[in-house]
Amino acid sequence: MERTRWYKDKVFYQVWPRSFKDGNGDGLGDLLGVYEKLDYIKDLGCDGIWFSPIYPSPGADCGYDISDYMDIAPEFGGMEAFREVLEGAHDRGMKIVMDLVVNHTSDEHEWFQKSRQRIDPYTDYYIWRPDPGNGKLPNNWDSNFEGKAWTYDEVRGEYYLHLFAVKQPDLNMDNPKVREEVKRILRFWLDLGVDGFREDVITYISKKEGLPDDHLFPIYKGMPQYNHGPHVHEYLAEFKRDVLDHYDCFTIAEAPLVTPKQALTYIREDDGQLDMMIQFQCMCADCLFSDYLPTKFHLRKLKRAFSNWQYRLKGQAWNSLYIENHDHPRIVSRYGSEQFREESAKMLAVMYLFQQGTPFVYQGQEIGMTNWRPESPDMYEDVQTRYNYAHSNLKKSPEQRLQAMWRASRDSARTLMQWDSSENAGFTTGKPWFYVNGNYKQINVAAQEGDPDSVLNFYRKAIRLRKSLSCIRHGEYREHFPHSGKVYMYSMTEEMEKTLVVCSFSEKPLRYRAPKGFDLDSAELALGNYAQPIKNTLHPYECKVYLWK
Ligand code: GLC
Ligand code: CA
Repeated sequence: MERTRWYKDKVFYQVWPRSFKDGNGDGLGDLLGVYEKLDYIKDLGCDGIWFSPIYPSPGADCGYDISDYMDIAPEFGGMEAFREVLEGAHDRGMKIVMDLVVNHTSDEHEWFQKSRQRIDPYTDYYIWRPDPGNGKLPNNWDSNFEGKAWTYDEVRGEYYLHLFAVKQPDLNMDNPKVREEVKRILRFWLDLGVDGFREDVITYISKKEGLPDDHLFPIYKGMPQYNHGPHVHEYLAEFKRDVLDHYDCFTIAEAPLVTPKQALTYIREDDGQLDMMIQFQCMCADCLFSDYLPTKFHLRKLKRAFSNWQYRLKGQAWNSLYIENHDHPRIVSRYGSEQFREESAKMLAVMYLFQQGTPFVYQGQEIGMTNWRPESPDMYEDVQTRYNYAHSNLKKSPEQRLQAMWRASRDSARTLMQWDSSENAGFTTGKPWFYVNGNYKQINVAAQEGDPDSVLNFYRKAIRLRKSLSCIRHGEYREHFPHSGKVYMYSMTEEMEKTLVVCSFSEKPLRYRAPKGFDLDSAELALGNYAQPIKNTLHPYECKVYLWK
């Protein structure tokens, strides 16, 4: 099957289904709700949708703990609703990408239930170790979410490995039968017509032989022993050869801490096993490795991250571009400014949308949603947030502890989508499963629809402009004035067409000049976020897209 690499011309919208739109009034977002909003997504200029998991799941990690890979959860509308959404999307020229979560399953998956009872062929589907005794664990690894990475199972009388929550046991990918299961899952969805997969923490699937202790990492202990493990390339190549190569589909892999150099070993176009990677460096301009280790925001770090990926992948592999998803707090509250919310939301859009790669927009990002501020820690739902709250900042005041969660929690960006100013932001007619951000009366889709200067209409314009420019798809990226700590400036240059993007990250007005070879007087100012732009001056959080053609 010839691979057309259609994903290079797409802009994806990420749906986190629980909070997107409730279609049947039971308080939980669902596929009926998505179906109603297909035109909204399309009008935004997005022609692909990535669904966070919609499979049956006990919900210990909001769907990332799957108990049946070949079905759609009844609360989301089941298979029937999914088929309608798939067809509705395809009719509109949109692609559908599913989340493939195969590093781990739910502990309620039939495989795990049988494995703990040593019923074949499931006995070795997971990573079991005998009890070393004396209160010791099989090794010193941490889980990413809930303390140590091992939990004792009374039924089997052994420990199982879980790199995430206790209810997310890791699969034993070294077992060829498990890899056959993965291939069955891939084929099942591809045969149904889905167009690709976002592969959850896929760089973790091969653990170092013997599961040795880790003496390198002070936190997330164990990561060097399972991230980019010994057989990861081999297993991914097997999935590609046996399944993916037979469809014109695409894959995007979530890859914590990956560098461009490592990424190229996975996604080089001539010999890669995958098509794109979700890197985390662009999410670490105000933290170290994790949102839970906050630092001040450093624009230079952000620019270095984006530029590095642009330069290093050029001509060899394809970037994915994002500034928000369901695992991070809202970008306006992080890299932008809630005080200059509209300006900074628009500026951040321009900052990443005019680079080379396939952009992703996370629900609510397009209206400039901000971090949710709960009144009490009990209101948090997310397993990672709850654990972190209970175990960190213990000496700080209650306000400081809540503030730390506001800054880091995934729930900051998982509140209900703000559709209008009616009760519960128009998300549901029933009792919602989760909270709505108190600012929904000001910030919502309906209010922004009719306002030509809204963040929403700005996103529409920006995406339309991006799609009309060949230099974004084919041109050469170059960063200018990389030492500036206030302005991010880059150009995309093709023979007959070039752009210069100028973004201010300052709350104060600034002066700037164009780099050599860019004569602003001969350019068209194709997009900006101020009604009255002034030459060589930037208002707070102003952005400008200059175009020559
Ligand atoms: C990925 C997902 C995240 C999930 C975790 C475990 O990081 O994006 O939401 O909790 O994997 O599956
Ligand atoms: Ca519902």
